[in-house]
Amino acid sequence: MTQPWWRSAVIYQVYLRSFADANGDGIGDLAGLRSRLGYLAELGVDGIWLNPCYPSPQQDHGYDVADYTDIEPDYGDLAAFDALVADAHDRGLKVLMDLVPNHCSSAHPWFRAALAAGAGAPERARFLFRDGRGKDGELPPNNWRGQFGGSAWSRIIEPDGTPGQWYLHFFDAGQPDFNWRHPDVTALFDEVLRFWFDRGVDGFRIDVAHGLYKHPELPDWADSHSHFNAHAWNQPEVHEVYRRWRRIADEYGPERELTFVGEVWVPTVADLAAYLRPDELPQAFYFDLLQQPWQAGLFRSSIERAFDGIGATGATITWTLANHDVHRTVTRYGIVRPEPYHDSLPEDVSLVRPRGEVDPALGERRARAATVLLLALPGSQYLYQGEELGLPEVLNLPDDARQDPTWTRSGRLDPGRDGCRVPLPWTPQGPNYGFSSVFGSSGGRAMFAPWLPQPDWFAKYAVSEQLQDATSTLSLHRQALSMRRELFPASEAADQSITWVDIPGRDDALAFRRGDITCVVVFGDEALLLPEEWGEVLLASLPPQEGRLAGNAAAWLRVQ
Ligand code: NOJ
Ligand code: CA
Repeated sequence: MTQPWWRSAVIYQVYLRSFADANGDGIGDLAGLRSRLGYLAELGVDGIWLNPCYPSPQQDHGYDVADYTDIEPDYGDLAAFDALVADAHDRGLKVLMDLVPNHCSSAHPWFRAALAAGAGAPERARFLFRDGRGKDGELPPNNWRGQFGGSAWSRIIEPDGTPGQWYLHFFDAGQPDFNWRHPDVTALFDEVLRFWFDRGVDGFRIDVAHGLYKHPELPDWADSHSHFNAHAWNQPEVHEVYRRWRRIADEYGPERELTFVGEVWVPTVADLAAYLRPDELPQAFYFDLLQQPWQAGLFRSSIERAFDGIGATGATITWTLANHDVHRTVTRYGIVRPEPYHDSLPEDVSLVRPRGEVDPALGERRARAATVLLLALPGSQYLYQGEELGLPEVLNLPDDARQDPTWTRSGRLDPGRDGCRVPLPWTPQGPNYGFSSVFGSSGGRAMFAPWLPQPDWFAKYAVSEQLQDATSTLSLHRQALSMRRELFPASEAADQSITWVDIPGRDDALAFRRGDITCVVVFGDEALLLPEEWGEVLLASLPPQEGRLAGNAAAWLRVQ
């Protein structure tokens, strides 16, 4: 029996705002993406995941949804969305949307109604409104901290003009958390799922999938500085939501092969595996590997944890090394002199967004090797846009250009996530490095700067240049993706394991076998003599010289 496509698919994450801009306003859009689907099909991915493209005030770039069943006008409209899905499907590409069920936007009609209705009104019950503590209710209802910094509560002005209740928002104040104990909320998301499944989408990435439910009493969290507040995240009730959604997806019949991939940040791999039980989510990102620095032993133990904790349950492992919330791999692996973050910021910020002096050439070499490693692992993979170009993080955006709410909410201590969201360079010259299409005066439109400034050095990473260079990082991705299809056919359901191969005397290198392929990665600087019994090199992040694979490089080999 063939396994469903998503168990082994490579999905390309499209940060729509920064992918391609068809109308020259400096903001990526659906028409721009549609015009570049050929690029993605030739890259060799199986589908795309679109970051939220619903109407939104964009306070957290689409993760503040004002209407779950329409399209943000800056990005297009429902007709543009339908045309995109149709073209993607014609090219054999699946389309996943991003579902944001933990919170909506403060511009959502329900939240507006809640504000207008006054304390105690039923409209408030769809959110988490509470009276404040202190003499006049001037203190937040509990001590919970938000993910972007500061309290997780904001106080509102009541319709009569006086300071009143507080509402819970784990992210920006423009993102009020829903009360998932209210039946309207469950019903809303049932409808949203059906709305998009009826339009032909193939699944959803679920934002903050470990959120949704909070402890019913909203008690203080004793360890208020720990990033993981166990009263706020990973509540047992949330699993029932995914069972329900799985039943909704199943109503569409097995031929649709619909999937959900959860963004689940939980303390242990066992906690993560609980979301992947057979009647819950088909997939959830394995973020453990993304948090490891470039070191053989740490990579190996993380990969082992994935196979032991997830693979062993029969679920597929969903690998990823980058997304729109973390620093790009080139930068993470290329830091030569780390800089500490401010003490008051949670430790995981420095794991996923480390800062310091970067050697971009070394970082790119390691990122290429990491790609070759990842694509050899059984499971599915998520590839963040621009990673295939070897783009470094833009660490030095001007402060006044920064838009991530993390920057202001952390009191400007955490520079945030804008640096991996800078619009892509498609050409070395031209309007916004080819990100925007220009309109002449007859089109009646001026050319606008991109919504985040692109540095000059983006030119050398341009798609058009890399396509002409067989040694470019883009060419490596194209080669690896096409070879992956051939060497590891998706139909082989039994293909879920790897076997480690010892490399005596080299604890800075890893090798494993999958079927008849050996994948080897040298994390250290010293070249490795490739044992003859591993066979011929099929693919390498850097071509071996005289049988030696250079340091910070990886290869696939096979006995002929
Ligand atoms: C996770 C998303 O990936 C991130 O970009 C967003 O800010 C938060 N969830 C809140 O929705
Ligand atoms: Ca545009």
